[in-house]
Amino acid sequence: MESKHIYGLIYVSEAIDSFSELALLQLCELSSLNNSQLEVTGWLHYYDNRFIQYLEGDKLDVEALFSRICRDKRHRVIHTIEFENLANRLFYNWHMTDIKTVFSDHIGFEQTLMNLIDFMNQNQNDTKSQRSSALRVLKSMSSLQA
Ligand SMILES: Cc1cc2nc3c(=O)[nH]c(=O)nc-3n(C[C@H](O)[C@H](O)[C@H](O)COP(=O)(O)O)c2cc1C
Repeated sequence: MESKHIYGLIYVSEAIDSFSELALLQLCELSSLNNSQLEVTGWLHYYDNRFIQYLEGDKLDVEALFSRICRDKRHRVIHTIEFENLANRLFYNWHMTDIKTVFSDHIGFEQTLMNLIDFMNQNQNDTKSQRSSALRVLKSMSSLQA
């Protein structure tokens, strides 16, 4: 049981140079180590020169981590959606997982993510309805967790 509310953040960014499978694996390994110390959970996905990452945990920790990520010259953050006061973590098992490896067997999963990315690219204002649509997708993804 978590006593504090959870802060969640999802963003889409554009890779400056294309990322190899190896670079992605190394990034997930390093992030997983760092994030487990911070008790930040979430996932990362890379497709078509775009990253999409979801982070959740204590608000100050997630914000500090996200500012570090934003300073990373390997990408440029395009759009962010924040979720204040989530009752629970959605991805409690993953400190930073490349979700492609987890969900590769789920038909239509890649498409769901692509829709989420397109949706975030097109709706640049962080409105209430945008937040609730994104949260619905995240919740449906979290229900597929092992
Ligand atoms: C798309 C993307 C996602 C990243 N996600 C994380 C992450 O979840 N956790 C993390 O520690 N570093 C992440 N990084 C790496 C950080 O930007 C940074 O390089 C790393 O934390 C080392 O920081 P330092 O050099 O200040 O120690 C990410 C980088 C990119 C490009």
